[in-house]
Amino acid sequence: MKLNLKKFNILSKKPIPVDDFIEKILYMPRIGYYSSKNPFGKNGDFITSPTISNLFSEIIGIWLVSAWEKMGKPKKFNFIELGPGDGSLTKVIVNTLKKFPELNKSVKIYLYEKSTFLKKLQKQNIDNKRIKWIKNFNSIKEGPVIFFGNEFFDAIPVKQFSNRNDYLFEKCYSVKNKIDIVEKFIKGNKKDISQIKTFETLKKLKFIEFPKRGFLELNPIIKKISKLSGGILLIDYGYLNCNNSSTIQAVMNNKKISVKAMLKNLGRADITSLVNFSLLKEYFFKNNLKVKKIVTQKFFLERMGINERAMILGKKMTNEERKYMQETLVRLLEEKQMGSLFKVIFGYKNKNNDFFGFE
Ligand SMILES: C[S@@+](CC[C@H](N)C(=O)[O-])C[C@H]1O[C@@H](n2cnc3c(N)ncnc32)[C@H](O)[C@@H]1O
Repeated sequence: MKLNLKKFNILSKKPIPVDDFIEKILYMPRIGYYSSKNPFGKNGDFITSPTISNLFSEIIGIWLVSAWEKMGKPKKFNFIELGPGDGSLTKVIVNTLKKFPELNKSVKIYLYEKSTFLKKLQKQNIDNKRIKWIKNFNSIKEGPVIFFGNEFFDAIPVKQFSNRNDYLFEKCYSVKNKIDIVEKFIKGNKKDISQIKTFETLKKLKFIEFPKRGFLELNPIIKKISKLSGGILLIDYGYLNCNNSSTIQAVMNNKKISVKAMLKNLGRADITSLVNFSLLKEYFFKNNLKVKKIVTQKFFLERMGINERAMILGKKMTNEERKYMQETLVRLLEEKQMGSLFKVIFGYKNKNNDFFGFE
């Protein structure tokens, strides 16, 4: 354990804010959770919608086609997947787009990934020369741009604050006796506090989760959308109303584990937090994007025709294949499973407001 702390560079006694701490254990080169193994698929710690079913990715592809049409079929168009994981979604989208030659000719496809390990995995999985991996969005200069992220925002660590009589104290971790990691609250940074206080959504909360790093990621994205038009479609595990407690959760070997257990298994567990969709919406509004009504994953996928598509595909399948497809559909759509826990938000700038999937 001592060695582990040293490797993760968290031996100092100085309290480390929760978001900085989690960032280290997820992304520390070679030993961080996302830097050292493939967490996706049946043998990974979690199974995301694109790894559950190609139908999910196909439907996102169909939505992309519809968004391009709504924007007047621009001759130059860009699609960027944020945090592509093992690359499953874009792999399917590339095939779906082949059925729409006019768009296929116009669209440039980019992947934006932080983990060098996952980038390699994506390159193995999507062997296609037209796809470019980018570190920033500077090279995208022409045509509207659609950003898409599934479980992207929930993987970006949040800051946590306790509100004591209107004074905000930030939750940190520090190392005790060179072995134990303990929770500590310190006076919040003035800049962070004044930013937090500008959000209606966060007012009067006793416990605040603030996605400072997430917003920093969104800033260049929003700038690009504001300049070229387009939007950002995000799907994540999240909520509309805060319940004043930590939403950070850790998963190891396919099972939820306590934060205490996570602290004893640095780099071995995935750590996410639930996304505050009301706050995301407020952030988009503050930055002059329009926002479609926030809907559940079930609502969005059904509006986009996932059941009809499954029926068509089912006709050519064996009984066993059809049964398997039905089971995966249940996982994606069932209210108690991903259907209503996952929400969909679209922040955009365009003359058209009539994007599919939300009404
Ligand atoms: C929970 S996984 C989701 C993967 C994939 N979208 C899926 O649904 O299977 C989060 C992904 O976002 C990436 N990621 C997290 N923070 C990022 C950042 N700041 N910039 C780029 N990628 C990031 C992770 O490395 C990983 O690929």
